[in-house]
Amino acid sequence: MTGGPFASGRPGIRVIDVRKAIGAVEILRGVTFEAPSGSATCVIGPSGSGKSTLLRCINRLETIDTGRILVGEVEVSDPDVKLDRLRAGIGMVSQKFNLFPHVSVLDNVSIGPRVVLGHPADQARDDALLQLEKVGLRDLAQRRPSSLSGGQQQRVAIARALAMQPAVVLFDEPTSALDPELGFEVLEVMAELAGAGMTLLVVTHELRFAAHVASHVVFLDQGVVGDEGPPDRVFGSPACDRLAAFVRRVGGIVELR
Ligand SMILES: Nc1ncnc2c1ncn2[C@@H]1O[C@H](COP(=O)(O)OP(=O)(O)O)[C@@H](O)[C@H]1O
Ligand SMILES: [Mg+2]
Repeated sequence: MTGGPFASGRPGIRVIDVRKAIGAVEILRGVTFEAPSGSATCVIGPSGSGKSTLLRCINRLETIDTGRILVGEVEVSDPDVKLDRLRAGIGMVSQKFNLFPHVSVLDNVSIGPRVVLGHPADQARDDALLQLEKVGLRDLAQRRPSSLSGGQQQRVAIARALAMQPAVVLFDEPTSALDPELGFEVLEVMAELAGAGMTLLVVTHELRFAAHVASHVVFLDQGVVGDEGPPDRVFGSPACDRLAAFVRRVGGIVELR
């Protein structure tokens, strides 16, 4: 069972001709792609291309001007959609972990289910421990976040998102604030979630992760999709020069399977 208004446990995400301006500037200029259910889709692209704005539109932190966004059968862009229920079903993990510093790791993970979903304290605690187990941190449940490494804190943030039993999870550059080896442990957890059949939409500059874990890669460039497809094709024979240049700049050589 998942939180939020999502009937199916593993919906995909469909973004259809989405436009979004902030002030006079059109940030998303007709974005269309599909993130298939039950696997990871990576969104790559230069800084400023609209990746964060896109994710914020998908969980309705921003509204779109025109177009449609569907998570499963739920029309995210419907003005009448119940926002709290919607956001409960769409997990978000961003670059900054934003953990509550004054309570334990366990409380950080169990507070959402208790307060937002109304789960009894015992159940919320047991569920939180299960989620912490999934990210390899059950032993640190009683610690304060500040005593953990950046990679461990990000894994707590992932456990916190999972504790809400989301139908899909959005990641916005989850490793970009971390040293490479700490980023690696976060990427490993994400790869496990994708392997277990969660629908993930991941904005990342980790092209190796995109190449090895994603089923689908979307190149967002200046507010439009410049290329998309399976990673072997997108990295092996980029459809446009700007993607080829981006891959050279960010990833060097992306080793494929
Ligand atoms: N609240 C805002 N006000 C004005 N401009 C914004 C705002 N948010 C984003 N932008 C602009 O929109 C563009 C895309 O931003 P963003 O979605 O953060 O890109 P990315 O995540 O790909 O780096 C950038 O040029 C950024 O300056
Ligand atoms: Mg961004």
